[in-house]
Amino acid sequence: MEEYIAAMPKAELHVHIEGTIEPALVQQLAIRNNIPIPSSISSLADTSSGYSFHDLTSFLAVYYPNMAVLLTSQDFFDLAYAYLTKAHSQNILHTEIFFDPQAHTSRGVSFSTVVTGLREAIVQAERELGVSASLIMCFLRDMDAQSAMDTLIEALQYKDWIVGVGLDSDERDNPPSKFSDVFARAKQEGWLVTCHCDIDQKDSIEHIRQALEEIGVNRIDHGTNIVEDKRLVQMVREKGIGLTCCPVSNSVVTEDFKGKEILELLRAGVKVTINSDDPAYFRGYVNENLIKMATDTDISREELLILQRNAFDISWISEEKKKGFL
Ligand code: ADE
Ligand code: ZN
Repeated sequence: MEEYIAAMPKAELHVHIEGTIEPALVQQLAIRNNIPIPSSISSLADTSSGYSFHDLTSFLAVYYPNMAVLLTSQDFFDLAYAYLTKAHSQNILHTEIFFDPQAHTSRGVSFSTVVTGLREAIVQAERELGVSASLIMCFLRDMDAQSAMDTLIEALQYKDWIVGVGLDSDERDNPPSKFSDVFARAKQEGWLVTCHCDIDQKDSIEHIRQALEEIGVNRIDHGTNIVEDKRLVQMVREKGIGLTCCPVSNSVVTEDFKGKEILELLRAGVKVTINSDDPAYFRGYVNENLIKMATDTDISREELLILQRNAFDISWISEEKKKGFL
């Protein structure tokens, strides 16, 4: 089964570039930039043992401080090129990569530094590896809507390098509706829209409803709790709105990887996909996420293929390019 999964041509639609930074790269960039090695790394016996945390809060407490090592365009290039090389090694033909500009601009790193480094890696990886990639700009939902709008305005200079916008970080008391104006403007500018609706949140169903009915998203990131509301399930099925699910991430931040719910949605005809989220932290790229589904649920080989067909289907590439992949 592992060979079957490895050999499948795949697309990834939910990966945070900042979540792909392996401990060895954090260490390397800290040394190159002459800054202290973050404590999440200096406390490890060696960099191959992975980061240490046990839930979403302790994850974020490691995740954000590690970004201090990302300072120059070259750093963002190296980060993205390393991920794209890994994605290529897993037979990922196309990937849509989230980036969080505010996590960098708030530290004094300019938007242009971030986006030019990422863009150059994408162009070079396409040329050298043949892997296709797009950027999705995420707003940090625990910052205010004005900051998201300012970020959007700044990003307009790079409009053609960004395929759509999303919403991530701490969901508690930060509903999609807080960013209604920002998403409306993003749509006016021609960007596609997605939104994290994380697993087992205080207001999961209401946030999913807002994303669908008030924001009018094209996709939902995670969104697995939709299984609890038949009406919303019917809506996403009828409209072909996809869910980007991340089983290994789920298993770290909640008690359950939600394999049963993911499979139920797939079997109900929802366009479910399997993704890695923050693979360097959760220790699973796309293949490992698919292996978890194959090992811990009764998903069939045919259904594993449907997951991949869904991913290409709901990806934000042109219909013409899509045909080349399918
Ligand atoms: N940003 C990066 N990883 C995230 C996650 N798992 N949930 C919300 N925001 C994130
Ligand atoms: Zn995510």
